[in-house]
Amino acid sequence: MQVPSWLAGLACLLLGLSPARAEPAGDPQRGEQIYSRCMGCHSLQVNRTGPRHCGLIGRRAGTVPGFDYSAAMRESGLVWDQDTLDAFLAAPMDRVPGTTMTYAGIADPQQRRELIAWLATAAGQCAE
Ligand code: HEC
Repeated sequence: MQVPSWLAGLACLLLGLSPARAEPAGDPQRGEQIYSRCMGCHSLQVNRTGPRHCGLIGRRAGTVPGFDYSAAMRESGLVWDQDTLDAFLAAPMDRVPGTTMTYAGIADPQQRRELIAWLATAAGQCAE
């Protein structure tokens, strides 16, 4: 049996309308604004209530010299990359139970992507 041309046309139309597209990358400029929520406790350059974020991407969790981490963070076994940051920032106290980062998290996945995109650039550029 031959597929009627109208059906083939419809299939093309539907496929065209819902292309399988990749997740949109985070916009780093919006990410910088979102980082203002972290700045009560963090900065890129210096340890404050939270550890400095310079060199964050690729770093093992709980290893900034001179910062007094919780045992939970030191022993988490995490290495900070896109995925581990995304899971942690969604719900810090669920991802690392016992962490002293008492912050509820960022529920919106798009905002997390934007923040991580900015962190990847900004924290990669400052001196270790
Ligand atoms: C209320 C203060 C506070 C806020 C707000 C906060 N943090 Fe933290 N953060 C901490 C503390 C304290 C730690 C150390 C946690 C531990 O040792 O368990 C930490 C640890 C971290 C770590 C692990 C760093 C490492 O060296 O292993 C990351 C990543 C992080 N915070 C990112 C963020 C981001 C991004 C935001 C903003 C969305 C944020 N934090 C908001 C206090 C805070």
